[in-house]
Amino acid sequence: MKISDRIRYVGVNDHEKALFEGLWPLPFGVSYNSYLVVDEKIALIDTVEGEFSEEFFGKIREEIGDRPIDYLIVNHMEPDHSSSMEFIRSRYPDISIVTNAKAVPMIAGYYGITDNIITIKEGERLPLGSCGLTFYMDPMVHWPETMVTWLDEEKTLFSADAFGTFGAVDGDCRDSAGAGLCGWLGTGQNTFSAFKSEMTRYYSNIVGKYSVPVQNALKKLSGLAIERICSTHGPVWEKQIPEVISLYDRLSRYEGERGVCIVYASMYGNTALAAKALEVELIKKGIPYAIHDVARESLSYAYRDAFMFDTLAVGSPTYNNEIFPPVAAFMNGLCTRCMKNRRFLAFGSYTWAGGSVKLMNEKAKALGFELISDGVAFAQGYSPDKVQFPEF
Ligand code: FEO
Repeated sequence: MKISDRIRYVGVNDHEKALFEGLWPLPFGVSYNSYLVVDEKIALIDTVEGEFSEEFFGKIREEIGDRPIDYLIVNHMEPDHSSSMEFIRSRYPDISIVTNAKAVPMIAGYYGITDNIITIKEGERLPLGSCGLTFYMDPMVHWPETMVTWLDEEKTLFSADAFGTFGAVDGDCRDSAGAGLCGWLGTGQNTFSAFKSEMTRYYSNIVGKYSVPVQNALKKLSGLAIERICSTHGPVWEKQIPEVISLYDRLSRYEGERGVCIVYASMYGNTALAAKALEVELIKKGIPYAIHDVARESLSYAYRDAFMFDTLAVGSPTYNNEIFPPVAAFMNGLCTRCMKNRRFLAFGSYTWAGGSVKLMNEKAKALGFELISDGVAFAQGYSPDKVQFPEF
């Protein structure tokens, strides 16, 4: 697909994989994006997941026919972008891999490739003819070797995972053409609105732990006059770049929108009844909210809304004197993601000795959350007179 005279999209859509990274559901699929920069020399920027190698090669051939590819730029070594590397080398034996020093041992470790590698440094430029590629290190967004590639003549940033999103992009992948999230929106719709939820889920699930490096990257890249973002997942952003950068900036500053993310799990339904009573209160007050039973759904969605909203209400029964395991996993995931800046309420039932509310409060305090109250612990069965929630 032609993005410009120089830039061609040769990525693929994956509608088969159930779990990204073996963990995160993909109800709308995912794209693995790769790009050709065509000049006197040709550069291929990143590859795609290995099972799509033949389809990928077909797309490359559609764009450049029999011309050889001179360079494979490796911005990021995670296998969703690197596992067609050996295949590409088999089709283009003279291709040179261009990457940074941190990626070199990973290339050897994953694929046993040690030859024909050009190692570049921060700010180095690779001329292609009428244009050139400049490389900037982008460590921990989302692996240590990650870098981005800048094509100044097109004001285009090849951003690796940064600004990526879940969701396949069938059809025209440019937001300027109204790219839609597969299964939701067709052309002519607002691409950012269509992808905002899946972009937030992608960020919170995959990149959220690395929010400080994301902030560092945003500062570093702020000097570039970006007119196009070519990420490794999701649409090519041309029209809604401010919205996309603003969302990544807000998420990486842990700034939530006004609203409550209710997360709970329940053994015999009493903590669930309390969660649903809280939901009704929020509806009556017109406060935006989301609610997740993490014993029955992937944590993926709870993390999305924990990043989305400024308040967390977490419900857990006391189980073996501890937090109920699915909720404990959620709380641990917040710690892993270094979550900050949240208002917090714990609630939950117990039978003979409480503990879960106190333990959740301790975790929340360790993260610097503001406790809305000491929490709402109630003995045995739920009833409205036992469970009084504080003002939100
Ligand atoms: Fe899409 Fe970090 O790989």
